[in-house]
Amino acid sequence: MMMIIPFHCPRLPFGLLLLTVLLSSLLTIPTVEARIRRYKWEVKYEYKSQDCYMKLVITINGQTPGPSIIAQQGDTIIVELKNSLLTENVAVHWHGIRQIGTPWSDGTEGVTQCPIFPGETHTYKYVVDKPGTYLYHAHYGMQRAAGLYGSIRVSVPDGVAEPFSYDYDRSIILNDWYHKSTYEQAAGLSSKPFVWVGEPESLLIQGRGRYNCSLLSSSSLEAGLCNATNPECSPYVLTVVPGKTYRLRISSLTSLSALNFEIEGHNMTVVESDGNYVEPFVIKNLNIYSGETYSVLVKADQNPSRNYWAAVNVISRQPQTATGLAIFNYYPNHPRRSPTTIPPTGPLWNNSDYRLAQSLAIKARQGYVEPPPQTSDRVITLINTQNQIDGYKKWAINNVSFTLPETPYLIALKENWTHAFDQSSPPDNYNSANYDIYSIPKNPNTTSTNAIYRLKFNSTVDIILQNGNTMNPNNSETHPWHLHGHDFWVLGYGKGKFDSVNDPKKYNLVNPIMKNTVPLHTYGWTALRFRADNPGVWAFHCHIEPHFFMGMGTVFEEGVERVGKLPTSIMGCGETKSLIKP
Ligand code: C2O
Ligand code: CU
Repeated sequence: MMMIIPFHCPRLPFGLLLLTVLLSSLLTIPTVEARIRRYKWEVKYEYKSQDCYMKLVITINGQTPGPSIIAQQGDTIIVELKNSLLTENVAVHWHGIRQIGTPWSDGTEGVTQCPIFPGETHTYKYVVDKPGTYLYHAHYGMQRAAGLYGSIRVSVPDGVAEPFSYDYDRSIILNDWYHKSTYEQAAGLSSKPFVWVGEPESLLIQGRGRYNCSLLSSSSLEAGLCNATNPECSPYVLTVVPGKTYRLRISSLTSLSALNFEIEGHNMTVVESDGNYVEPFVIKNLNIYSGETYSVLVKADQNPSRNYWAAVNVISRQPQTATGLAIFNYYPNHPRRSPTTIPPTGPLWNNSDYRLAQSLAIKARQGYVEPPPQTSDRVITLINTQNQIDGYKKWAINNVSFTLPETPYLIALKENWTHAFDQSSPPDNYNSANYDIYSIPKNPNTTSTNAIYRLKFNSTVDIILQNGNTMNPNNSETHPWHLHGHDFWVLGYGKGKFDSVNDPKKYNLVNPIMKNTVPLHTYGWTALRFRADNPGVWAFHCHIEPHFFMGMGTVFEEGVERVGKLPTSIMGCGETKSLIKP
């Protein structure tokens, strides 16, 4: 730190030196001891025009994306969150932070806590134990899609070097954006007849996008809400100095879309994902699924006399949304000078081989990621299907659609309230030998459950995610699966049906990457392994907001008897009211 400089300056007068030493002992932040970083957040609804169309969004201290959490490995984060939404509950999840020793701070409504009621202030406290790129976002109903999200950047401790170098560090969150409120979306998804949310109106880069207002008929009420000249929807500008290398921390919190990110004319070297170092590989564009984070190195090595487009395009679903654009601005060109070139259109949206190949290219950086256990104790195969219950459309795994109980699992399990949720075990398998992944589910009727998987503490668990066909012929969707409380090893991806005899022989047990979110490709499988060594109750779900809302998820419990005393601040709903009575 700068405080060290006076000691190398022999001509400094003694008095000044003494003062400097005194000051530095007061100001220098200890480098070995971890710091406490305190944030005070107020969450409320405000009118914003992020894509030029004005609507109510959820802000934190007036911002969306919310303030970034910037910390160093080992720091303690304290967020005092005031719910000023007036008529709506809230809960905030720290996506990618494992919450070792603090499972009650995971922020997952119904799983680890009761929602925070309007007017209440809730304090989250946890340690960021691993350097890397993480996220936070609402975890209550479909609230994330209303704009409550932001980034968490955890740097290495002082004196520790990373296995790559760069001059500047920037975080960019990608998102898709809907004009309908999350309430309208949620009501449609849970109606008969079913009303699908549809494709997003626009794509946002760091909270900024551009909807083409002329698509609204000028006589419509909505037209009055759209203003193409509103500064809130001017594109995000990433200013770079020629010759310098930038670490771009790119993450996606889309509600629905899989995205492809590209900077016109520039290669990117992938070096980190979900807080784990990647064996560097060079790409022209990056496929990124909701819940994933990547660090890429980009050198500003192109002709500096102009600006370039940074573009996001929808992949894996037929795009109906315009390319999202930001300006990659070479200093000292004017930051608002739009390139005159045609923005990158990305790879073909339906090229699933291209997406699978990029997934397969991601390997752990040697020496930086722990190798996996060579065997596992339990294999859980999860068949991903679209189903229905009494004519209501659902998503299900192994033919059961997930619902949350009224009393959060963590509290119910600690208190041994066996009546609080279904105590049976969801299936470890579902007719997988005979299941035809290429046709509409033979049995389209699913059941709903709030039963959870109980894992033996410290055991090694394999999860085989198997994709299938939806209720529409010749259709399989991409699902990004996210696990709370853990990083898992990604042992393999494959096309078609998983072969439980031969495919495990091809697992990568040498250098698999660890991640917390991974895509399940169309008509394919993805194999994961993790150690159930983090006492708590952890959600595992598809990160597509409407899919999880429609039941595409589950919960794992491990070592809950080892969890310390729960804070009463997570209580107040369902059965837990009895615990906080005076
Ligand atoms: Cu980022 Cu349970 O989610
Ligand atoms: Cu999904």
